[in-house]
Amino acid sequence: MHDIITIDGPSASGKTSVAKLVAQRLGIPYISSGLLYRAVALMCLLENVSAEEIEGRLEKYRLELRPTPTQNLVFLDGHEVSKALHSLEVDQIVSAVAVRPAIREYVNNVLRKIPPPFVVDGRDMGSTVFPQARYKFYLTASPEVRAKRRVPERDAAYETVLAEIIRRDQADQKQSAPARDAIILDTSHLDLDGVVRAVLKHLAP
Ligand code: CDP
Repeated sequence: MHDIITIDGPSASGKTSVAKLVAQRLGIPYISSGLLYRAVALMCLLENVSAEEIEGRLEKYRLELRPTPTQNLVFLDGHEVSKALHSLEVDQIVSAVAVRPAIREYVNNVLRKIPPPFVVDGRDMGSTVFPQARYKFYLTASPEVRAKRRVPERDAAYETVLAEIIRRDQADQKQSAPARDAIILDTSHLDLDGVVRAVLKHLAP
């Protein structure tokens, strides 16, 4: 049984969809680490405070991620908040939240408590959080291709989504580090099924 497989990449590179399908094929859970940063961004919105101010209040909340075969459920103090995590408001502040070392440590502690095996997606899963992972992938695609993929998931025009992706690429640079031993997959000319097949091809039977 594979223990940890990491799939990192920039926003809308398809990492979550790929992680989910690869995990389903292997019969193990998938974990979308970005949801935890999104949950901290939601805490800021709920309390109407900045990323800096939320740092001092993190222990007030019980943050939990429960993987199911089809989705990840996120709970804040026992309340399911998963549906509130993919708004443009959260998109806009999540990088400022994720850049803060204390918040990264908080999220990484939640992640490291999840028992393997699993497939996990994010920005720094292979490089920082799970350097011991058996297989590491890094997905790339042009900003235009990624914007086209994301439009159906956001209630916004292509130009708005593209501008947001370019802005977040820059804002996330510091926290996006492909592991040195990651397999890089350019997905610009592949559909979802093609990327999943490319990942599975690299895994030992
Ligand atoms: O799917 P998308 O890349 O748009 O978002 P996500 O994976 O849900 O991540 C949301 C944000 O969380 C990213 O823009 C990063 O700022 C941050 N993030 C991070 O810093 N490190 C991770 N391992 C995962 C997400």
